[in-house]
Amino acid sequence: MRVELTEEQEMVRAMAREFADKDVRPIAAEIDRDARFPRETVRRMGGLGLLAMTIPPAYGGSGTDTVSYAVAMEEMARACASHAVIMSVNNSLYCEPVHQWGSEEQKQRFLVPFVGGQKIGCFALTEPQAGSDATNQHTLAVRDGDHYAVNGRKIFVTNGRESAAALVFVQTDHEAGHRGITALVVEKGTPGFLVPRVEEKLGLRASDTAEFVFEDCRVPVANRLGEEGMGFKIAMSSLDSGRIGIAAQAVGIAAGACELALGYARERKSFGVPIGQHQMVQWMLADMATAIDAARLLTLRAAALKDAKKPFGAAAAMAKLFASETAMKATTDAIQVHGGYGFIKEYRVERYFRDAKITQIYEGTSQVQKLVIARSVLGGA
Ligand code: CAA
Repeated sequence: MRVELTEEQEMVRAMAREFADKDVRPIAAEIDRDARFPRETVRRMGGLGLLAMTIPPAYGGSGTDTVSYAVAMEEMARACASHAVIMSVNNSLYCEPVHQWGSEEQKQRFLVPFVGGQKIGCFALTEPQAGSDATNQHTLAVRDGDHYAVNGRKIFVTNGRESAAALVFVQTDHEAGHRGITALVVEKGTPGFLVPRVEEKLGLRASDTAEFVFEDCRVPVANRLGEEGMGFKIAMSSLDSGRIGIAAQAVGIAAGACELALGYARERKSFGVPIGQHQMVQWMLADMATAIDAARLLTLRAAALKDAKKPFGAAAAMAKLFASETAMKATTDAIQVHGGYGFIKEYRVERYFRDAKITQIYEGTSQVQKLVIARSVLGGA
């Protein structure tokens, strides 16, 4: 098994790192403080090909593999987790499903304009009663000639206010349960598509998390991805891919916090020596470094399995579970290494701690990842 990145993957890492360090890191604290969506840098991310990495060049994407995508996600999250989630949702939860399930005409309309940063997309699955229990969809779409009339409400939609189109999961046949869920691309500006609210959050404050309301919103049947009833499979397979991106984001958050802790441990003195010379601090740093490496390897393995067109859902769930738990532990300990200064915004490490928390929740909680993993290891038992 190969554990080194290829020359091409290293080039992607170097490009993403340079952009993250030069353009993103300097504004990360300010956009977090002001909860400001970073339109300018998102457009530049598009220009660098970071918003549609695995989409073929024929549609304007970068045509890289998933390993490169994971590597770039990690680099972005090392600097700013908000940029990373904006990138991950456009890549994994919007462009990939439109590319995989869309017709040629749909790809021209709903994919090509979304690869270069001019427009971004989002993924609207969650409803007030349908979080982990994602099959429990109440948004209804009733066929009326060549349109659907959509009524309902979606919450916690990342990129929701800023996106030009949303992949929306609706119930077209309530009796059929999850086999009655259908995926529609709904464009902003469609009458009856409202964005009444954007959430105020603990972390990822520069990303935009919106609520959608659909009131007799008429969506053309031509905007349907796949057949009626295929929506849940589209959602679940998109989330399998998405979880690789979130695992990589969590690795980046943990690595960014660890770097701050290492820098501080080298400089801060107590009892006459740098604190990095105290065994208690070394212990925390050693555990952090080991867990981050393990999380990175699990993430790259899931990405490599996807690239090899092998089953990767359970591997992605393991990677996301381990990486997000690692991010929470590593950021907690990185604050501990800083002592009281870790609690102070100026020392930057508290942002990583706040950003880490959501990685244990979105795109499936740690508990949902365990359910997916347990089902996989138990097989048909
Ligand atoms: N790929 C394709 N199909 C899949 C699948 C997968 N990975 N997993 C399940 N399915 C299919 C099953 O085959 C089954 O279909 P059939 O009945 O036709 O055979 C159907 O889906 C239902 O599957 P289950 O019986 O396993 O469904 P369940 O209700 O028992 O459990 C679950 C499903 C794993 C709990 C799922 O609901 C889940 O993952 N929940 C978490 C939802 C989630 O991750 N939400 C994230 C919101 S988006 C977000 O967070 C984005 C963001 O902001 C960044």
